[in-house]
Order: sequence, then C-alpha cells, then structure tokens
Amino acid sequence: MVLSWIAGQQKKALLFLDGADDDMSVVLASRQDLAAVISFFADKEKDESAQYLYKTLADAALEVRQKAYGNRVFFRGLIEFTNYCKNDCYYCGIGRSQSQVHRYRLSEEEIMSCCRTGEKLGYHSYVLQGGEDPYYTDERMCEMIRMIRKNFPNTAITLSLGEKSHESYLKYFEAGANRYLLRHETATDAHYRLMHPEEMSLANRKACLYDLKKIGYQVGAGFMVGTPYQTPENLAEDLAFLQELAPHMVGIGPFIPASGTRFADFKAGTLHQSLVMLALTRLLVPKVLLPSTTALGTIDPMGREKGFGYGANVVMPNLSPTRVRADYALYDNKICTGDDAVDCQKCLNGRILRSGNMPDYTRGDHRDYVPGDTSNPDDRKPIVIV
Ligand code: SAM
Ligand code: FES
Repeated sequence: MVLSWIAGQQKKALLFLDGADDDMSVVLASRQDLAAVISFFADKEKDESAQYLYKTLADAALEVRQKAYGNRVFFRGLIEFTNYCKNDCYYCGIGRSQSQVHRYRLSEEEIMSCCRTGEKLGYHSYVLQGGEDPYYTDERMCEMIRMIRKNFPNTAITLSLGEKSHESYLKYFEAGANRYLLRHETATDAHYRLMHPEEMSLANRKACLYDLKKIGYQVGAGFMVGTPYQTPENLAEDLAFLQELAPHMVGIGPFIPASGTRFADFKAGTLHQSLVMLALTRLLVPKVLLPSTTALGTIDPMGREKGFGYGANVVMPNLSPTRVRADYALYDNKICTGDDAVDCQKCLNGRILRSGNMPDYTRGDHRDYVPGDTSNPDDRKPIVIV
C-alpha cells in the first residue's frame, strides 16, 4: 500500500506543479492514509531491510523539490534578538519560568550590525526571531523594521515573534516586513493542551496564521516531530492542516528535550521520523519552502544534508552575536552556538555543495510570489559564493 501511495502522491504533486492555478485539491490526501503511512515508517525505523522504502520516499520528495525549485538551497540569516518570553510552553528552554536562563535583548544597533554582517556575506533575507517579549511594543518593532527596510531595501524581512493581534501584524507589514513564521506546533486540540499552559490556545494560533495570510505575508507554519504524547494521528492532522492553510513555508524539526522544562526527561524526536515528515510535506504542499533545521543538525551530525535529500531547500544560518548564542537555548546541546556568522556560512556552503545542491543567497521567495514591493530583479539572480 505504502509504495503505491507514495507513487500516486508524487504523481499528483508533479501534476500540481504543472498546473496554472493553485488548486490544492489536486494534491489532497486523506488523514487515514497519512496516519497509515506515518505509522508504517515509524515501525520500520530499525529495520535494515526497509531502507529502500525510505529511499523511495526520499527520491519522490526530491523529484518534486527539483521540479519546484531545482537544487538551490536558500539562505536566511537568523537574528535571535531577545530570549525574554511571557509564555511558558512546556517544551521550550526559554519559557518564562526557566529561571536559570540568562536573559538578553539585542539593541537596535546590534541588530543593524547583524544585518550588515548578513549583507557582507551576500544574504538577502533576514529572520528576526524572539520570545514574546512585551518590551518590543509595536512602536519599537515598527521602528526597527522601518530601519532595516530603509538600509536594506532589497532584502526580505521575516518576523517570528509569536501570537499578536491582527492590528499589530498589519502595522509590521506596513512598516516593511514581508514574511512571518509561526509554527502551529500541533493541529490537534487535545495534544496542544498537553504541551501548553491554559492561557494559550490552538484556535488563536490558527487564527493568527489565517490573519497573516490575509494581510499578505508569506507565511510559515510547522511543528515539532516526536513531542511528548504525539501519535501518528496527530502528525496526520498536522499535515492535513498544512494542506488546508497552504503556507509558503513550513518549519519542521525534531523535539529535543530542554533541561529545566516539564518535558526535560522525555525522549527526542528521531531523525527518521523527522525526515519522513519533511518528505511527506514536500509531497503534500509541493511549492513549499522547507528548512533543513538546526534541530535536525543537532540530533544527527549529517541531519541537515539528509534533510536536503528528503525535499528540504532552506537553511537558516545564525547572524546573532556569538556572546548571546548559548542563551537562546530552546533545547539542550544546540549546535553552532560557538561559531560566528562567517563560520556558519562556510560550514553550510560546504554541506550544501557536498550533498549535490547549490547555495543561493537571493531573497528565495515562494514560487508564486510576484515581485513588486521591494524586490529588485537584479537581486533575484542566484549569487553563489563557494
Ligand atoms: N516566540 C515565537 C513563537 O512562539 O513562534 C518564536 C520563538 S519559538 C522559540 C520558535 C520555535 O522553537 C517554536 O515554534 C518551537 O517549535 C521551537 N522549539 C521550542 N522548543 C523546542 C524544543 N525543545 N525542541 C525543538 N524545537 C523547539
Ligand atoms: Fe516563548 Fe518559547 S515559551 S519562545
């Protein structure tokens, strides 16, 4: 059943990419089939004789990615600008009750300096990520966005600041932000409840994602693989939600325990299951921009290269000052905390080239994105530094 399902879904995805419109019904899959495929692979993880099945899935996802974006892997310079957070997600190493965490905020000048470093490295895409930090009022945020937009007009500005009101999202967009990352974390209500405090809700998280899309952001949803209490049915629901939302980007990485949290003693998500979820996402949302995450590189030294082989096509090298890297400790043993921005670029370039792909430092917009706001056609040519 699984082999024929993969072949059928691959065919649908390739057909979808040929289509002129964005009709997601072409690639639609049922929750039952998805749960069956996910369970099937979960059972085969330790079975050497089943490795060809993983290869079949990887090859299918890779062919779809090649058709959608070729072998280019897009760079997004990540600036982790605050680790203060008013929330207390049970899995997260920087939640408010993590009293051992040394808290920091980058100044405006430090953030601009990160952007200048990114510019020198050739990047055209910055991601400002942080906890939900009330210090950054809309006014402060908009001022920062305007400053980055003014100084780096041809660069995509992505925000990842958590749940805000429609009004705030609109203000940031008008100030010059183009993209927003907000993982939904899990699309199953009961599972969401087991991972978050009472005051947070899946309904609000989903509403934020629809708001962001409506405003005109390129939107990223996503989830962790192997979180406590997660079932194959939960993961199938995550994929079904992605098909409904049709985001431009999807962030998927293994859950990794963080000391001091409620989930500190749970097991991390596995490499195999994370790769399976990447490949399925590529087959279900074929045009998506899909990072090979730092978390994947943390659980396996070759994790990010393996991610490219299962349909991923984005990397997010860190631009934050090295002095704060270790303090943005979402989970234990996070890689790259001692490397500076140049080291991260060199390391990722090598990994991308050795895996048969090409580093690409353009804005890396979604295939359907129509330039016209801040985009300069000259900057859209791939710039490759080897
Ligand atoms: N505050 C923003 C938000 O809530 O979207 C952005 C920061 S948040 C730390 C970024 C992502 O880190 C989360 O969406 C979550 O999926 C991931 N994350 C948090 N704790 C993690 C853990 N223990 N293992 C793996 N990923 C984790
Ligand atoms: Fe807010 Fe993790 S609990 S960033």
